Amino acid sequence: MAQSRLGSLSLCLLLLLLGDVTRGDLAQQLRAQGRSMVLVGGGLEDDNLEVYNTIVSMAGGRGQARIGIVTASSADPNDSYQFYRGLLLSDPVGAASTLHINVSIWDSTVANDPALAAQVRTLTGFFFSGGDQSRVTQAMFLAGRVDTPVLAAIRETFLAGAVVAGSSAGTACHPTPVMVTGGVSFASLKYGAHPTETHRDVVTYNPDGGLGFFDGYVIDTHFANRGREGRMIRLLSDTKNLPKGTARGFGVDENTALVVTHLGTPQAVGSVIGTGGVTFFDLTSSFVDTSQRDFSIRDVYLAYLTHGDEYKFDSNDVSFAVNKMPIKGRENYDRALTSNDVFYGKNASSTRKPEFVRVAASIFDSRLDVASYGVTYERNPRFRVDMSKSNSHAAGFVKRNGDFHSDLHSYKGLYVAIHAE
Ligand SMILES: *[C@@H]1O[C@H](CO)[C@@H](O)[C@H](O)[C@H]1NC(C)=O
Ligand SMILES: *[C@@H]1O[C@H](CO)[C@@H](O)[C@H](O)[C@H]1NC(C)=O
Ligand SMILES: *[C@@H]1O[C@H](CO)[C@@H](O)[C@H](O)[C@H]1NC(C)=O
Repeated sequence: MAQSRLGSLSLCLLLLLLGDVTRGDLAQQLRAQGRSMVLVGGGLEDDNLEVYNTIVSMAGGRGQARIGIVTASSADPNDSYQFYRGLLLSDPVGAASTLHINVSIWDSTVANDPALAAQVRTLTGFFFSGGDQSRVTQAMFLAGRVDTPVLAAIRETFLAGAVVAGSSAGTACHPTPVMVTGGVSFASLKYGAHPTETHRDVVTYNPDGGLGFFDGYVIDTHFANRGREGRMIRLLSDTKNLPKGTARGFGVDENTALVVTHLGTPQAVGSVIGTGGVTFFDLTSSFVDTSQRDFSIRDVYLAYLTHGDEYKFDSNDVSFAVNKMPIKGRENYDRALTSNDVFYGKNASSTRKPEFVRVAASIFDSRLDVASYGVTYERNPRFRVDMSKSNSHAAGFVKRNGDFHSDLHSYKGLYVAIHAE
């Protein structure tokens, strides 16, 4: 009797210890990847297992990942929660549990609930749903940009290695620098960037920034799909000298993610997964010609990363996936393409490349042309976007899949200039 009591007691102790070891390993795994994020550009398809599995794996893996779903940007928080809960707990994805972090602009008690904050500290990952990024900052901060208890708990857990993921507005809400809140390319080029909508469809931004999980870059979503290159360039150009401005940005395409690890260290790296690409913008050395009546800019640096490509944060350089080959010397075409509607993007059912990407990729895949251009469909003024690979940083890479539109192109060192015709 005494013997078996002792036996079961030591078994209990052993299980407790094992439990501790597993928890310890998990905490260690999370710490090892450093601050990490999975930034999805919206339009995430239910069958994009690569993205869902990456989130769960970075949150500790199958049967371990405990993921808080933050629905602050949603118009229908219950619906968003049920949707992502279903996907994350589904058999091929395999998260252990989810928690609804129902912070919202409609009920401030949730963000200030100490019991919820305590639960948040037990999680290994977060997923921010889409909707409207302005709701996130409005609901998550107290006056004077002080963290609510729930935001403070998310931040603390993130700093300890829990992954922060999100899609669409759930990605756009994370920058420390200015947060983009709306607008389309043409109106943005014509009227400039403003904190509130001065003209229909101008690029708007929050000058105080987003939640502050991602330093140094503006982050935009639905990117090439909606032809947002012009809106990003105008936003960075107009705000880069503001207190919370930056000259650099990432635009993440739909059904695509930028997966970042070791943020805030010299090892910080971002890699691309999913079906589209991530455009990197650097306006550090760009020049705005203020003698022109309309917006005119040159020396805007772009890189476009697709599946498997990596961005190194310390050098701002790109390394291309091992399954891609350099295009130089193996170009498929004589001439580059032009566009009459350079910010058209693409519609959801199209297998064509988005317009801006189509022109840019064609320049790298051209034997004879080192530059090309597209114009805006809108007139008064009609903007012309010039793109050039004629510099020593330029390099195009490709994974051939059969034709120009299905070939996976990526590049660095494209220089862009925009001016009114
Ligand atoms: C959301 O779900 C909760 C709990 O299931 C329920 O009480 C509430 O009525 C729902 N709210 C909406 C707006 O559907
Ligand atoms: C989440 O918050 C919304 C807005 O306050 C509310 O309508 C909804 O019922 C809440 N859902 C749950 C499950 O409590
Ligand atoms: C989407 O694009 C395809 C191919 O360019 C085109 O055939 C189709 O009509 C477009 N659909 C819509 C709804 O615009």
